[in-house]
Amino acid sequence: MRIVMVGAGYVGLVTGVCFADFGHDVVCIDNNQDKIDALNKGVMPIYEPGLKDLVEKNVASGRLSFASDISRAMNGAQAVFIAVGTPSRHSDGFADLAYVYSAAEEIARHITEFTVVVTKSTVPVGTGEEIENILEKSCSRNKFEVVSNPEFLREGAAISDFKEPDRVVIGTEHEQAIEVMKAIYRPIARNGKPILFTSRRTSELIKYAANSFLATKISFINEISDLSEVVGADIAEVAKGIGLDSRIGERFLQAGPGYGGSCFPKDTLALIRTATANDVKLPIVSAVVAANEQRKINMAHKIISALGGDVSNKTIAVLGLAFKSNTDDMRDAPALTILPILQAQGAKIKAFDPEAMREAQQSFTDIEYADNAYDCVEGADALVVLTEWDVFRGLDMARVKSLLKSPNVIDLRNIYSLKAVKEHGLNYVSIGRS
Ligand code: NAD
Ligand code: UGA
Repeated sequence: MRIVMVGAGYVGLVTGVCFADFGHDVVCIDNNQDKIDALNKGVMPIYEPGLKDLVEKNVASGRLSFASDISRAMNGAQAVFIAVGTPSRHSDGFADLAYVYSAAEEIARHITEFTVVVTKSTVPVGTGEEIENILEKSCSRNKFEVVSNPEFLREGAAISDFKEPDRVVIGTEHEQAIEVMKAIYRPIARNGKPILFTSRRTSELIKYAANSFLATKISFINEISDLSEVVGADIAEVAKGIGLDSRIGERFLQAGPGYGGSCFPKDTLALIRTATANDVKLPIVSAVVAANEQRKINMAHKIISALGGDVSNKTIAVLGLAFKSNTDDMRDAPALTILPILQAQGAKIKAFDPEAMREAQQSFTDIEYADNAYDCVEGADALVVLTEWDVFRGLDMARVKSLLKSPNVIDLRNIYSLKAVKEHGLNYVSIGRS
């Protein structure tokens, strides 16, 4: 099947290349010409494990291509996916749908045969109708059907999450559209993964409910980790102990510095805005948002108190800047809240991240960037782990201790074992364990 993917970011690019790998003919469109030029030269615009190889393989097979002009790509396409950004609107936290609507306008101008227009972007309930209205302005109603197909992949594990999802959700009740969507996802269905067909509005809400529930799990375990620390329990064991109950589940119970990234923060906020606009209150989701904001601030104060309450003129070596490991994405990373608080109190920041330093430079021009973890900790008054990159787990702690000016390690991801750090005589502060 010929598929057009509008938006070649984390979701569009991964989805596009995976569809090509399933045997479909895919053209990825992006209005950022630099991105398209880079992709056409084999340069990936994002860091995502396995992506470059899969793109190369599918470009070589002739099933995947990149362009900035949608008109030729649409010729003969049975499905067009909208995978553009839906960031938080700065003024009020609603999802900003400007990119979605402008993509819909461009698509509308080029529909000739019956086309399924699929919203892959995360969009508030009712957006499907808005897209329909836009398409109807340039195109007759029997030439298209708008379908919701939210994406659940995680950055850093995007390809395996896409190819082996827990489920695929498709929001449409239109028979022809159902057949097209079934054909697109046949390889996933053949692998035994459930394909759930719902109404379009239900599908739109599933996406926000899923992200908000996962964010709630994280905020819950973070809250319990605070208590755990004070009462002498170990949060990893508490998480395991509750997670082994299949009604709770073990995943997404890792305590940390607060959730970040391009989705949980904006989607929880957007869900609250949708509810407010419909006169419904979401006290649980609202509490999660507030708790997560406070969590990041608390983490800065945890670092300050581990250093005796005063960080002025102290150098803090920060390992990890991205919002999680295996990505270069800095959107809403906890580092963006924590580091400015430390700087405001007079601390100097030296940082290293294996992939996110180029992105980080857009936000932090006033920190020193190191070439590697050891270079980062040399001469510092403390080492702070902000992101759980594997490469930090195996650091030679004896070497770390000898490089640090003072042997303080504040581990906001619990990547080190208490025993190992104790053996090296480090002053170690972690999350949810005393
Ligand atoms: P992104 O910012 O990485 O990519 C969006 C791309 O769309 C950009 O390259 C931009 O240049 C392009 N674009 C914008 N308007 C365009 C237009 N009119 N025509 C062509 N290209 C256009 O965003 P993302 O992280 O891929 O997120 C996309 C959507 O998917 C969002 O709604 C997000 O909430 C959702 N989502 C993201 C993830 C994730 O892990 N990042 C996971 C699931 C769902
Ligand atoms: C998240 C969801 O997991 C995806 O299902 C969803 O598709 C995506 O948002 C989206 O809609 O964009 P992602 O943001 O890539 O994916 O990353 P996650 O692995 O979910 O992590 C999000 C944040 O929560 C990170 O800051 C991470 O460190 C934190 N986290 C995650 C924890 O603190 N503890 C955990 O146990 C899990």
